[in-house]
Amino acid sequence: MKKWLPNMRFFSLIGLMALLLAGCGKPYLSTLQPAGEVADMQYSLMLLSTSIMVLVIIVVSILFIYVLVRFRRKKGDEAIIPKQVEGSHKLEMIWTIIPILLLIVFAVPVVSATFKLADVSPMEEETRDENAIIVNVTANLYWWEFEYPDLGVITAQELIVPTDERVYFNLKASDVKHSFWIPSVGGKMDTNTDNVNKFWLEFSQEGTDKANGLFYGKCAELCGPSHALMDFKVKPLPREEFDQWVSDMQNAEVSEPVNELAAQGEELFTQYNCIACHAIDTGEQRPTAPNLANFGERSSIAGRYEFTEENLKKWIKDPESAKPGNKMTGSYDHEGMTEEELDALSEYLLNLKVQD
Ligand code: CUA
Repeated sequence: MKKWLPNMRFFSLIGLMALLLAGCGKPYLSTLQPAGEVADMQYSLMLLSTSIMVLVIIVVSILFIYVLVRFRRKKGDEAIIPKQVEGSHKLEMIWTIIPILLLIVFAVPVVSATFKLADVSPMEEETRDENAIIVNVTANLYWWEFEYPDLGVITAQELIVPTDERVYFNLKASDVKHSFWIPSVGGKMDTNTDNVNKFWLEFSQEGTDKANGLFYGKCAELCGPSHALMDFKVKPLPREEFDQWVSDMQNAEVSEPVNELAAQGEELFTQYNCIACHAIDTGEQRPTAPNLANFGERSSIAGRYEFTEENLKKWIKDPESAKPGNKMTGSYDHEGMTEEELDALSEYLLNLKVQD
């Protein structure tokens, strides 16, 4: 094999990795483009720890190279055994004290940030802040439910929050362990079946604008075959628009079919028994499947496809290949569905809206 070949391989691998990582810098998905108080804190801790580690690597590498060059065996020295040093008090002190100092430099901001991030007093009963928005998050195989207990609003797959203020979360799971993560805004925290985890996040208006008003949320705990597809979307809104959204949700009536085709779709929705699992009323909670009251306002299909009629039909027709292991598969005769039925159903679903 040619001598330069392993080198070529190494450099092309590095090049490929750099190219791949360059794709990670999206403002709606990247921890490296923080969009809020929590993300800022976490980002500066990452910078601090990385700088300390890089500093250690540089110092150790310089020492290593120096020793290698300075003390290498020279011609004519073959028979000489250099002076053997054992238990140097000075050296022992240096390499004990320096790591301790580095650890202190790192530990102080980490502990202080940990306490700040754990401060959920505004959501506790005794110290309750009446204005603070609280969201109960339930993670399910493979979808997310968001309930606003003080506002009487329930939604699924899309989290709506006010910008530039702390939003408080109660996190739990209905089936197996999942993990709630909005990479550019902060997290992550596990959602468990037997206890409720609490934390807060802040969504900055500036970061929201950079991300074009939409962040991606992820499940960050391996939970089954569709773990990687268990996404949700986050739409932060200025406080007035958020209040408007809440009042629209609170006053929403169940959407009436907009035309003949949608009316057929509504009938099929009952006939195929979709209604048994999916609520279509903004305030109704069902543990079985996402609430569809404002389905027509979503930004993705099944949390993963672009929001188009074609993708909706693809999802209804064959949910298993879109999201393996999901609970909709097998609950109706999706294979027997005709094109006409799919047209009607999607017309009905795409027009389930709460805002005009
Ligand atoms: Cu839910 Cu991974």
